[in-house]
Amino acid sequence: MYYAIKGGDVVLAQYDFIKMSLGLDLFFLRIMKEHSFFLEIAFMPKDRRVREKAGIFRQKFEQLLSDATDLANGNVSKDTINSHQAVTRFTGEAERVTEFYTGIPFNIELTKREEVLQPAEFGIQNVKTEQAVDSLNRRAYQQTAELVMFKEHILESVRSCRMFTANYPLLIEHIIREAKHYMKMLSKLSRKENIMSQEDLINQEIFWNRQMAEHAKFIAGLLDPTEETLIETANMFGDEFDELTAEAEKAGRQAMNIAGVTEKSRHETMKLQDFKAAGTKGILECKIQSIIIPLLGDHVLREANHYLCLLGVCQN
Ligand SMILES: [Fe+2]
Ligand SMILES: [Fe+2]
Repeated sequence: MYYAIKGGDVVLAQYDFIKMSLGLDLFFLRIMKEHSFFLEIAFMPKDRRVREKAGIFRQKFEQLLSDATDLANGNVSKDTINSHQAVTRFTGEAERVTEFYTGIPFNIELTKREEVLQPAEFGIQNVKTEQAVDSLNRRAYQQTAELVMFKEHILESVRSCRMFTANYPLLIEHIIREAKHYMKMLSKLSRKENIMSQEDLINQEIFWNRQMAEHAKFIAGLLDPTEETLIETANMFGDEFDELTAEAEKAGRQAMNIAGVTEKSRHETMKLQDFKAAGTKGILECKIQSIIIPLLGDHVLREANHYLCLLGVCQN
């Protein structure tokens, strides 16, 4: 990690700002695009206008992701690539099958471009790239802020029984939390702050352990009732990650040594990652009965990969 001094403050050096921003954008812009898609396919026929609005969000995030991909070749870290948080070995196929089921087009060419991204090799300082990345981050922030408002409006309508959707209210709340988390990281980057600092690790653990717990609960609730063993395993992960969230919160409050919690989170997330990968594969091969749209399996797998990389395991 390199730092520069600006106005008496220690800030991220240009090279790290570029790498860190593009790694974050490649991960989260695809996540935001897919959240828009998950909303889009769950509305009832009478809610055509909200469905169209979700479709516009999906397209706007796809464009931002394409811009991020253009900038990212030769400008992202090896960790971003090796962790498979931007694309996994299943992403292209999950998009193809999801397009087949829904009729909604996916830009699979873009996914292929991401698969062959090359990492940054040298610390080349480039003002033009820095400005382009800064502008991308700002547009991403603005678009995500609008998506948060849209999601909040839907959640409010669902909670007050003014609208019905096939998404769980908790799933809508869950994806609002992720969008706000992305915005928080983007504002840190706009101040050239390090988003991977050790001090912040415990907050990331509190945040992501909760998300992992909810993924397990969503999976349990979307599997076919006959998939008893898988439902049991998913529920077990839900309980484990609820406990880990509580432990991380306690460690954060008491400012105690977090190494123990981190180790447990890492261990449990690796197990959940295997479960999600096997689940996604099983769904794609038509071996698991569920109402999980294939891209959702890959989506939650990427989120586990992102979290594991924050926990120091970027090679998988
Ligand atoms: Fe998500
Ligand atoms: Fe999630």
